[in-house]
Amino acid sequence: MRRETFDTVILGAGAAGMMCAIHAAARGGRVLIVDHAKAPGEKIRISGGGRCNFTNVGAGARNFISGNPHFAKSALGRYTPRHFIAMVEKHGIAYHEKTLGQLFCDRSARDIIAMLVGEMARAGCEMRLSTTLERVERNEAGFTVTLGGERAATVGCRHVVVACGGKSIPKMGATGLGYQIAKQFGLAVTETRPGLVPLTFGEDVLSGFREIAGVAADVRVSCGKAAFEEALLFTHRGLSGPAILQVSSYWRETQPIRIAFLPSADIAALLCVAKRENGRRSVQTALGELLPRRLVAHLAEKRGWSGTLAEASDRKLAEIAGLLRNWELYPAGTEGYRTAEVTLGGVDTASLDSRTMAAKAVPGLFFIGEVVDVTGWLGGYNFQWAWASGWAAGTAIAENAC
Ligand code: FDA
Repeated sequence: MRRETFDTVILGAGAAGMMCAIHAAARGGRVLIVDHAKAPGEKIRISGGGRCNFTNVGAGARNFISGNPHFAKSALGRYTPRHFIAMVEKHGIAYHEKTLGQLFCDRSARDIIAMLVGEMARAGCEMRLSTTLERVERNEAGFTVTLGGERAATVGCRHVVVACGGKSIPKMGATGLGYQIAKQFGLAVTETRPGLVPLTFGEDVLSGFREIAGVAADVRVSCGKAAFEEALLFTHRGLSGPAILQVSSYWRETQPIRIAFLPSADIAALLCVAKRENGRRSVQTALGELLPRRLVAHLAEKRGWSGTLAEASDRKLAEIAGLLRNWELYPAGTEGYRTAEVTLGGVDTASLDSRTMAAKAVPGLFFIGEVVDVTGWLGGYNFQWAWASGWAAGTAIAENAC
């Protein structure tokens, strides 16, 4: 088997790994990045509907879920969305803000991958794809990484960066390898579970809204103290859409979620005004001007909302509004890692240095990106964490600070 030497071996050519490689090699360090996939950045390619929501201009530690809510502050504060935007602009990649500070490529997510691959090549990093990781072992000089595949080799290095991502979408190459490496070196791994994932329901609930699959509405969805105002989508399996994906990261088994339709409107007041203006209109017609008609027809049938506005007392209208503002549902579960955008939990932040992402007890070993117990909201936050944590480890390696 071939023997080689590099300063740094990065495991995983995803968002965090590639960002780390660019910066770890910036001062001449020899960097090898390996991935078992045939192409780098596969999740970038499919992200944001193919346009990659590459950051969020408002990203801050409050947009992340972690056992230690302060952990992400250092990296996020030193490598901000402005830094990534500057790189995107330097490469002439056109982008736009879609909503809520979310930046997307105008053309294609492939532009972001090409930018990262180009920057890695410019910095002199070597990338090996279709390469499997057999073993990582510690020795006096650092580590020995054994690689399999066509170019099987043992690689001696001073730094190993684990950037293997989480468990979401196994079809795209997610393996959970990073957690195994953490455990091998004695680092704690917090409970992992699917996040940013559609919620599923038992037949009793599902039969109630299967016929409105495809209907979307603006809502506030809350679970415990977490609340998000975005769109909800009824599906054949349950509920999806940005508001549901957001709240799914906070939901735990047996908890209810609460849905408020038209969160910024006073529905009772609007119905009373409609009644005074034209009481001959049906309750359903008046509601249909506020909410998707299919949803209203469905709810009206289930709840027995019939008759005209004039026939309905103000109390009855307030009752209808109340139901629309506080619809409580008990999800049965989630669609799981098959469709989850992220993995919650991961390498315990207590084991890592928040400035460098280095394992405190294992000099030279780093964990970055989704494998760490830092998970962002939907909306470009997870890539910002990948860039920021990758940058933090990469610059620390380049400065030889670890
Ligand atoms: P990432 O998963 O990107 O990379 C890990 C790499 O390690 C992969 O290339 C994988 O092949 C490799 N690997 C894994 N196991 C290995 C093994 N055993 N041997 C060798 N290599 C191995 N976020 C966001 O901010 N904006 C968005 O628009 C989206 N959209 C989106 C859509 C979909 C469908 C998904 C699934 C996810 C998103 N995300 C997102 C989340 C985002 O993609 C995710 O948080 C980052 O890709 C995480 O970056 P990492 O580099 O940590 O892992």
